[in-house]
Amino acid sequence: MIEPVLSRLRGDRQAALDRLFEFLRIPSISTQSSHAVDCQKAAEWAASDLADMGFAAEVVATSGHPMVLGHFDGPSDAQGPHLLFYGHYDVQPVDPLDLWNSDPFAPAMDSDPAGRPVIRARGAADDKGQLMTFFEACRAWIAETGSLPCKITVMLEGEEESGSPSLEPFLQDYADRLKADLALVCDTGMIAPRRPAITTSLRGMVLEEVLITAANKDLHSGMFGGPAMNPIRVLSKIVADLHDETGRITLDGFYDDVLETSDEQKQSWEAIGVNAENFLGPIGLSELAGEHGRSLLEQIWARPTCDVNGIIGGYTDEGSKTVLPSKASAKFSFRLVANQDPQEVAEAFRAHVTARVPADCQVEFISHGRDPALLIDTSLPQVTLADEALSEAFQAPATLVGCGGSIPVVESFKRILGMDSLLIGFGLDDDQIHSPNEKYDLESFQLGAEAWARLLGKLGGQG
Ligand code: BES
Ligand code: MN
Ligand code: MN
Repeated sequence: MIEPVLSRLRGDRQAALDRLFEFLRIPSISTQSSHAVDCQKAAEWAASDLADMGFAAEVVATSGHPMVLGHFDGPSDAQGPHLLFYGHYDVQPVDPLDLWNSDPFAPAMDSDPAGRPVIRARGAADDKGQLMTFFEACRAWIAETGSLPCKITVMLEGEEESGSPSLEPFLQDYADRLKADLALVCDTGMIAPRRPAITTSLRGMVLEEVLITAANKDLHSGMFGGPAMNPIRVLSKIVADLHDETGRITLDGFYDDVLETSDEQKQSWEAIGVNAENFLGPIGLSELAGEHGRSLLEQIWARPTCDVNGIIGGYTDEGSKTVLPSKASAKFSFRLVANQDPQEVAEAFRAHVTARVPADCQVEFISHGRDPALLIDTSLPQVTLADEALSEAFQAPATLVGCGGSIPVVESFKRILGMDSLLIGFGLDDDQIHSPNEKYDLESFQLGAEAWARLLGKLGGQG
């Protein structure tokens, strides 16, 4: 049954691109309130595309951006699992806009430096192009056979890039409709072109903002400099002290719960062949900056990190100004690995900072999110089927990989709905997600859809 479905996908490639381009033209930036209408439009676009295929689809309002829900029953004698597909229709902001070579919301075909055809637009890889691989696979199955091989529920989120504030209440309120046998999440990547992957871990995160106040107003640095404390000096000392000279994070107890990577795991990652040279080279770097003695992939997939994402304070405009600022602030993100408790890390961080603020200064903290890391159960029988589907579509075996990024919904699916997830995506390391000139390989889009079509067939016993 799969061959005619694949032929249909191949015959429909131009129309599939046209659909994706339409979706990409909607600037659904979830974190900017001026784009709330665009988030609504993107949700409506996706729901209507599902409805066109024959899904029962709706846009469900939340206290933030809406969710998209779709449902298709599949054949009455369906043997396979009930699947919940997850993707997100929201995208990252586009700044700095002047570094884009084209309008981020005017999608166009382009080529990468190696001459590979790519789809260029904000959201092309994260996550509209990816989620459309699944939609196209469903469309081809329904068009060819009148149905899907499995019962499928679709849930698209519109706040993934802005901390998912509405996610947990939604999962709780809609648990009955969302609970399936397995979730399929398309928001991760491959190792390289034609090297498909199944992701088996996600890092968690703790996001903290710190504001330090010294004097009650900005001061002349000649008149007050010396006796009056400068909050930037306090803050930068805190930042500098967060790592030691071996790249380790200095918070009390930070590594206590971190599990050591097994030698077997290290060897299998070693064999993947991603190293400092080929990973850091393309971004203009050459030296590993993480914990000494840990390989590049171990640093990304199995070790926690602490980064300063932004630091604000004092005079930053043209020329100079001899000011002694009253306030300084910074935004921190920790990436956590399995078994670390986000609450404990956040508390250790706050204690660490507080202990370094002089009695004369005040410190305030704002939490922007706390999510644990997650390990995927690789013994699930569906992992084998996914490996087969990916291998056939990309003509190369799939590799089990970790992921340095975070997709908080996966842990919520497990905790709230008791549901495991299968993480399959077709992004590449050079897709420039969250950066200017984001792209998605045309081949990822096309073969990704074929991989899903094959997997659906296998899961439904029609492969
Ligand atoms: N799709 C990414 C996660 C990802 C990143 C997968 C890199 C594979 C490689 C997701 O949209 C994302 O950006 N997640 C955020 C989560 C945050 C905004 C809560 C992240 O990891 O920073
Ligand atoms: Mn994403
Ligand atoms: Mn993202």
